[in-house]
Amino acid sequence: MSPAPTLPESIDLAHHLAKRVRTVQPSAMKALGALVGSRKLLTLGGGTPHPSLFPMSHATFTLPKLSTLNGDVQDWQQGEAVTEEIHLKKTGQGTENDEELVHQLEELNELLHGKTISDSSIYITLGNTDGVSKVFQLLVEPDVDTVLTEEYSFASSLNAARAKGARLYPIKVDGEGLVPEDLEKVLSTWDERVQGRKPHVLYTIPCGQNPTGSTQPQERYDEIYRICQEHDVIIMEDDPYYREQLQLKEARSELPPAPEHAKDDDVQAVAKVFNEYAGVRSFLSRDVDGRVIRIDTFSKVFGPGVRLGWVTANSAFIERLLRIGETTTQVPNGLSQSVLASYLSDKHWGIGGFIRWMWGVRLEYQNKRDYFLDRLNEYVPTNLVSTVPCGAGMFQWLRVDLTSHPRYRKNPINSPADTAVNLALDTVGKEPEVPPGLELKSTNEPAQYTSNAGELMDELWNHLVEHGKVVLLPAKVFIVEKEGVDQSEDLNFFRATFAGDLENIDAALKAFGGSIKEWFARV
Ligand SMILES: Cc1ncc(COP(=O)(O)O)c(C=O)c1O
Repeated sequence: MSPAPTLPESIDLAHHLAKRVRTVQPSAMKALGALVGSRKLLTLGGGTPHPSLFPMSHATFTLPKLSTLNGDVQDWQQGEAVTEEIHLKKTGQGTENDEELVHQLEELNELLHGKTISDSSIYITLGNTDGVSKVFQLLVEPDVDTVLTEEYSFASSLNAARAKGARLYPIKVDGEGLVPEDLEKVLSTWDERVQGRKPHVLYTIPCGQNPTGSTQPQERYDEIYRICQEHDVIIMEDDPYYREQLQLKEARSELPPAPEHAKDDDVQAVAKVFNEYAGVRSFLSRDVDGRVIRIDTFSKVFGPGVRLGWVTANSAFIERLLRIGETTTQVPNGLSQSVLASYLSDKHWGIGGFIRWMWGVRLEYQNKRDYFLDRLNEYVPTNLVSTVPCGAGMFQWLRVDLTSHPRYRKNPINSPADTAVNLALDTVGKEPEVPPGLELKSTNEPAQYTSNAGELMDELWNHLVEHGKVVLLPAKVFIVEKEGVDQSEDLNFFRATFAGDLENIDAALKAFGGSIKEWFARV
């Protein structure tokens, strides 16, 4: 066997850490606790009750059988299951991560993303909301930093960034996700005198983006990583939908057959097929610097209620996340950790079984997406609503063509304020005089318009709820505001999910189609 290649260590990226996080001291109590464990000392120090006072040790779970995980989750849906006893470790302490789970996640990471730096580490979170929020805390200097992100993004993450004191700046997206040329332009034309500190954090959902459903092609991943290297930007890769890439086509039976016992599974072979049928590889799999902070969750493949996820990053960042955790959540719920570690152990599913489960979940989403697109086609006229089939995840981004509505208006504006900005820019060689409240950003924008698209979308949304009895999420929930720019023209989208059952998809799209036709016909 050839020796494993020597991996580079991450480069020094400590300057990206927020000042308040650099100085957090490790918990002295935990350090003493560790000393007791390592030196086998008698102790009167710790303040935790004796485990015999905790009223649980085992639990019985009903879970899909390994042999039904070879491609379909349908057997499970039809009741094929086994009941197994799961040992709950002495999780009551609540201050330590489950070491077994950490190792399993390291193995899973390596199977799905490979390993590119020697000091890659893992931090267990309470799901991606928690992971994203803690990573913003790690990197954002309150009231100083601007975080770059897709122009439409997951509203909770945007709120988390704002709550940590970040301003947001939108980067353009198209049907293939974030547009690298726009990222490059924004970074290379950033004017610190006017716009504040140059952004050093990109928050992105590159795969099955929420809300647009877009998945970046490989070349975009490469290009964005290169730009972030060039401008020294940290990439926060929030990726709940990576494992739900919908490129399976006819590959329903490609995985090697599931063995009776997880320990006999050929995990490498299972992962190989799983990866081959993924359309894209993650930012993490290309990260030679340690500048990617990958944020994963069990929510979409195991259940949001387990509240478990993990962050993967260079060890210096992970060490600081541990410090943040010590003063916020401690570690995630020990019961959930214990249960997940049991599922992933060879006694139950093993890592191979978990990948098989994800494969089955993928197939289900692919069916749902195709069904959704067929029903959309059937019920909703394409001249009113168009969409690009998503390549991963569970969202379709529906573009409403408001231009064919009789009351749609879009007029160029030439307000005194705009003229002042343009004049200021034309003044070559002088310090530009920017009117208060207006930023130079708007100068890179195309001509400005007033448009009633926002009002029409509000009206349409109300009509859908009142008359169609159907709810879709409007773009205004997700849009990243751009100071000094009228974004009404970008509000003509709805996010629709195909995560529900087929009956619901059919009824909701029928209602949507009927109701939107009715609204367009009204004057
Ligand atoms: C992009 C994105 N990030 C984070 C989350 C939250 O995930 P979790 O349930 O793990 O907190 C979601 C869930 O919808 C999401 O779509």
